[in-house]
Amino acid sequence: MNEIYAKIAGVGKYLPEKVLDNAYFETIVDTSDEWITKRVGVKERRMSAPDEYTSDLGAKAAEAALKDAGLAAEDVELIILASVSPEMYTPSCSCMVQAKLGAKNAAAFDINAACSGFIFALATASLYIKSGAYKNALVIGADTLTKITDYKDRSTCVLFGDGAGAAVLTASDKKTGVLGTVLGSDGAQGNLLTCCGLKASDEDIERRPFSDNKRTIWMDGQAVFKFAVKTMESATIEVAKKCGVDISELDLVIPHQANKRIIEGARKRLKLEHDKVFCNVEKYGNMSAACVPIALCEAVEQGRIKPGEKLVLVGFGGGLTWGSALIEL
Ligand code: ACO
Repeated sequence: MNEIYAKIAGVGKYLPEKVLDNAYFETIVDTSDEWITKRVGVKERRMSAPDEYTSDLGAKAAEAALKDAGLAAEDVELIILASVSPEMYTPSCSCMVQAKLGAKNAAAFDINAACSGFIFALATASLYIKSGAYKNALVIGADTLTKITDYKDRSTCVLFGDGAGAAVLTASDKKTGVLGTVLGSDGAQGNLLTCCGLKASDEDIERRPFSDNKRTIWMDGQAVFKFAVKTMESATIEVAKKCGVDISELDLVIPHQANKRIIEGARKRLKLEHDKVFCNVEKYGNMSAACVPIALCEAVEQGRIKPGEKLVLVGFGGGLTWGSALIEL
């Protein structure tokens, strides 16, 4: 039997309309445009409307990706959605997206690997396609972090925004699409980045002195920063090696967009030129699982990556988790 590949047939994105600029944060916490620009590199981020939730954003990005792929909702056999901010425990966000799309022939489930989530979802969907189980899959990264952000905590609130990105995978007999993936987790370091669910430990309560709602993101920024730079470098090297590709042969690297300094640190360690690393963090901030697919969509829109070219998607996040995927368009 011929080998089956998971081709990227279409990409899409959705960003809520409302823009929060750095001047807004100067009015709510003790911060400045200068500090945020220098330490994080973010100028603006998007905020979902009060009645707009993760599944709404995810469905809109998915519709755009299906349109780009030239597929109808009924063609989709699998939907995997990555998020840390689904509006419900059940039904899952992916099932809500399925209903919104009318993708009645799909199996749908969610993945939580925080900011690495889209890469975990892409890796999972590509294995289903490569195994022959499904021909068409929809992979979505969607988050509404502004709904789980503590706007009294200046060390986190300036970082986060909302958005969704999606990709359609289809079975192909040509060697293309998702060529290799690397996933990793270190649950022992999980307490470096938390958002409480049904339980908040004493430590979690102490960490959120300003907030009555413990279901907001807390993190040890410096520890996550160091972990991020190291893992973005090692996960990129590992996936390239696995695919027999030299780093110098990559046409583009699309990293998770958490902080411009993290991206720059990883770029330097990988000895890549500036134009080989995609960065849009200044426009949207950290949207967790949505960053990588939105950046992928914008890289395609801007002609930064063309059919036949090779790129690496790489991310890190809560869990702790990390992941990379080497793909060819
Ligand atoms: N404005 C002004 N000052 C600030 C702000 C702010 N918004 N935030 C923090 N500071 C202050 C701190 O209080 C501290 O002051 P002090 O020296 O008086 O104590 C000073 O700035 C330096 O703080 P650091 O934490 O050392 O600043 P750093 O340069 O590390 O930047 C940041 C902080 C931006 C959070 C950085 O550590 C970072 O980006 N970490 C990684 C975050 C990340 O990538 N998370 C990803 C996962 S998110 C997810 O999975 C949902």
